[in-house]
Amino acid sequence: MSAGFPEVRPRRLRGTKALRAMVAENALRPAELVLPVFLKEGISSPVEISSMPGVVQHTRDSLRKAAAEAAEAGVGGIIVFGVPSSKDSRGSGADDPDGVSQVALRDIRAEVGDDLVVMADLCLCEYTDHGHCGIVTPDGNVDNDPTLARYASTAVAQAAAGAHMVAPSGMMDGQVGAIRAALDDAGYSGVPICAYSAKYSSAFYGPFREAAEGAPKFGDRATHQQDPANVTEALREVRLDLDEGADMVMIKPALSYLDVIRQVRDAVDVPVAAYHVSGEFSMIEAAAANGWVDRDKAIMEALTSIRRAGASVILTYWATEVARWLR
Ligand code: PBG
Repeated sequence: MSAGFPEVRPRRLRGTKALRAMVAENALRPAELVLPVFLKEGISSPVEISSMPGVVQHTRDSLRKAAAEAAEAGVGGIIVFGVPSSKDSRGSGADDPDGVSQVALRDIRAEVGDDLVVMADLCLCEYTDHGHCGIVTPDGNVDNDPTLARYASTAVAQAAAGAHMVAPSGMMDGQVGAIRAALDDAGYSGVPICAYSAKYSSAFYGPFREAAEGAPKFGDRATHQQDPANVTEALREVRLDLDEGADMVMIKPALSYLDVIRQVRDAVDVPVAAYHVSGEFSMIEAAAANGWVDRDKAIMEALTSIRRAGASVILTYWATEVARWLR
């Protein structure tokens, strides 16, 4: 040993690509990726979403095609958002058996059968004329308990349309329990619930609100979505959802909440999902379009970081593309 030189050299294990691959601690699997999709009622060709390059509001045909491509690429799941052509104060389209989300679920199941886990986002905000996630009182509050009944019947409509799993995203207290009871009563006790347990009141949902046309017409969602300052509260939300019967829990957004993902992963024994949301997607796309970051490397780094933080299911608008890279 020559004085002054280290014997312990971590760099020895980084010398070749094969060495680095051998010692990699985390890797993405196509089966853990979930593709979010939007079906818009009443359009004859897909509509591009200007704030989300490469993402569209689908027609029924283009949605079936996207689902088939995702399955072909080995993607694990698909999560459906409906964009209805008419809205009202109670979000009637959400639990209408012929509502746009139910149409999408039936079409996707007809196309891919059980090859993808077909998930239904469950919320009212795309269906209400005021854009809030539930029933709103005359003084503008989102009224928790009447909203639960709407979620319960929406879950049953989604299961009847073929959803393998429902994912309530409205952040109402008691939503998981209400949905579990309704599904069980209607004969869908085998349909799992992936709870958006810790969904933060985030600026990163901006582009999604163009995609899903569900921006609130007044106020915001801060009375039900979580404060970005809090992590203990996320653990409490997760515990409540598990007590109410959640089968999986989700953290959303992802990259600004990697610490939350890690703490939840360490605290529970169910699968933990994370949603890499529209704003996180668009930031990388925008930077890449300007030549400021290497797009493909940035995508892999972002998604691998979410995996490393402890999420074993990742919702991402790049699901199909990344699944192809991984093959
Ligand atoms: C609400 C919902 C939102 C997202 C998924 N479900 C937005 C919101 O709370 O306004 C955001 C997803 C994204 O930004 O990609 N149903």
